[in-house]
Amino acid sequence: MIEKKDNWFFISTENSSYMMRVSPLGHLEHVFYGGYIVPSSYGLDLIRGGEDVRLGDGTYYDEEHQYTFLSGMLLEYSTPGKGDTRESALIAEYDGGLITLDPVYDSYRILECKDYDVLPRVSGEGAETLEITLRDKVLPVFIILRYTAYEAEDVILRSAEIRNSMESELNLRTVSSLMLDLPDPEWELLSYDGAWARERMEHRRKLSPGLTAIDSKLGFTSSEHNSLIILARPETDDSHGEAIAINQIYSGNHQERVEVSPFGLCRVLTSINPFGFGWVLRTGESFRSPETMMSYSASGLDRLSTSFHRFIENHVEKSRYVFRDRPVLINNWEATYFDFTEKKLLELASTAAEAGMELFVLDDGWYGRRSDDTRGLGDWIVNREKLPSGLEGLSGKIHELGMRFGFWVEPEMVSEDSALYETHPEWMVRIPGRRPSPGRHQYLLDLSRSDVTDYLFQTLSSVFSSGIDYVKWDANRNMSDYFTSSPDAGCQGEFFHRYILGLYSLLDRLTTAFPDILFEFCASGGNRFDTAMLAFSPQGWTSDDTDLHERMMIQHGTLRGYPLSSLSNHVTASPNHQNLRKSSIEDRFNVACFGVLGYELNLLNLSSEELAVIKDQVAFYKEHRHTLQHGTFRHLPSSDGAVFWSVESDEEMLVLEYQERNEVNTGRHRMLRIPHADPDSVYRITRREKHIFREDLGDLWPAYSSVAHDTLDLTVSGAVLRTSGIALPPLFMGRGFVPSTRVLGDNGTDLYVLRKI
Ligand code: DGJ
Repeated sequence: MIEKKDNWFFISTENSSYMMRVSPLGHLEHVFYGGYIVPSSYGLDLIRGGEDVRLGDGTYYDEEHQYTFLSGMLLEYSTPGKGDTRESALIAEYDGGLITLDPVYDSYRILECKDYDVLPRVSGEGAETLEITLRDKVLPVFIILRYTAYEAEDVILRSAEIRNSMESELNLRTVSSLMLDLPDPEWELLSYDGAWARERMEHRRKLSPGLTAIDSKLGFTSSEHNSLIILARPETDDSHGEAIAINQIYSGNHQERVEVSPFGLCRVLTSINPFGFGWVLRTGESFRSPETMMSYSASGLDRLSTSFHRFIENHVEKSRYVFRDRPVLINNWEATYFDFTEKKLLELASTAAEAGMELFVLDDGWYGRRSDDTRGLGDWIVNREKLPSGLEGLSGKIHELGMRFGFWVEPEMVSEDSALYETHPEWMVRIPGRRPSPGRHQYLLDLSRSDVTDYLFQTLSSVFSSGIDYVKWDANRNMSDYFTSSPDAGCQGEFFHRYILGLYSLLDRLTTAFPDILFEFCASGGNRFDTAMLAFSPQGWTSDDTDLHERMMIQHGTLRGYPLSSLSNHVTASPNHQNLRKSSIEDRFNVACFGVLGYELNLLNLSSEELAVIKDQVAFYKEHRHTLQHGTFRHLPSSDGAVFWSVESDEEMLVLEYQERNEVNTGRHRMLRIPHADPDSVYRITRREKHIFREDLGDLWPAYSSVAHDTLDLTVSGAVLRTSGIALPPLFMGRGFVPSTRVLGDNGTDLYVLRKI
């Protein structure tokens, strides 16, 4: 709901309120963002104090307004030069480098929809938009701020458009899509950082005076710093307390700034990273920032995740697969790497089909000269030596097995050793006169050029027409040697953003032309896990690291901002190919099933016992996949060193128990408590029974296996589950087996199914 009363603007969602007002001098002031307040409440004008405090040696607005210090105000969009010395939302140069602007309120519109678009398009169905135009006091430079309110999801979408109506050029240096000024600094900042194979590790830090910046300069969202940030009160945890989540819907260089001013005000800004960025606005031209979503919760971090999950599924994702159950896949990458023949692939596929898997994914190496990672990228023509019957032939044989078929591509790249490079060396991103730097022996194609994206559309359209159901879209290097030869670019600073716009338009064309293909994005694992990519492909490869212990942290961080249905998780081999950690296939499954499940290991090397276990896992997953892919994810209270996750749908709740270490002789039971259990219901609790392998027990085999690990079947009221919790059966602790004793071991798991009776 959006309202304007006098000089006030109110944006309300089901559980949050956002308020602004126009100050006596025309500046757009931020008043409040937090829990819902009825706009007609008494005392709103007391939320912010008046302009009656002097800021020592600060710059005041003018002699008539000696108490107006822009630095002491909460503003909606700041520019430099008139006293606000905090970080600026917009830095735009005119007249040979002047940067002072003074935007004041000009006009507004309230729309029963969302009538502006940037790629990727976010739907405005059921939403309302407030558009406020600011104009510089002197120059015809306009800033259009947009706020789209999604009531049910408690999300407000923000963006800014800069319009130049001057006779001369305006050179953009920094453009933010969101600025949020908060009146106090008592927040902690959560960010999601890492590197290849350890993406989106959660970090939490107290704010202190000065600037904290989270950003990517890698050209892509990056595994180093995701664009998701959360501000949480120090006491906030998963299920209690205030927090605000913010995420740009963007796949390029991003920046999130949080500044605590000397006067204790807290400013948050999300922008295209100013690093190397520039954009020339000629007379009459506009620039639209990417969009940023934000959500407020008064009841902890899980609530924010649910808001973002629902918002992304309902309004960002376009694929017809969004709410469909996604197939269980087998991917040949870690099973064969580059060393495969059609025969080997078909053997793998037929074993996977017997285990109940539904989609065969042919990964890297099927095309051109690609015998290893030094060559072939760019040549999207099947290698007949490896696949004599071509993609159509292989696809037909896989379909005969009752499976769907799809393959991997890396369209944004080119190898020097490729036919594409021989024909079009000018399409590679490189600075004339400099030798470009490689990453994984490969180079970027300049997607800022429309002839390159047109070519890719044609070439990919022809391979995507070869009877396929799925595409994995990979990108395995970061940007370097920044240079665009696009005739549209006004300056070289436009390279990064034009590249991303080129990528979006290519993905938009392809996903529109092939609506039945299920797309999955990937970038060296999770180097480009962001909301914008989810607009084109409803799932993404979460990380190359599939070790279950690492994965607990990677999935935890990813789920803070992205829906379960977007996390592609694979059960891979033990020892793990990234860190050589050994683990049980049952535990690997229990963690991987929180999201979209796949297998990526050489099934032909497994024993019949292991294959039977996998078959049971796949059957279990299919029975519960609607909940595991689309349910509401929550953290439960940890107990006795174990982490508990739950996922709940209308039909059921699944609970994962994960322990990093098996402690000896603790002498106690671990508790399972479910604070959100329905107090008026009674639950039946069963456990997914794990197969105990001989190597789990070593010399204790077979004595132990025959006297322990009874099946579990309990009846418990919701009131007990949510208040006291229940004691779980004992863990193996070195002495004494009873029939209910459980084998969990290090990195051990159990998975429970709860149904209301
Ligand atoms: C990186 C991806 O993350 C892997 O899953 C695999 O597809 C390789 N690229 C193939 O080159």
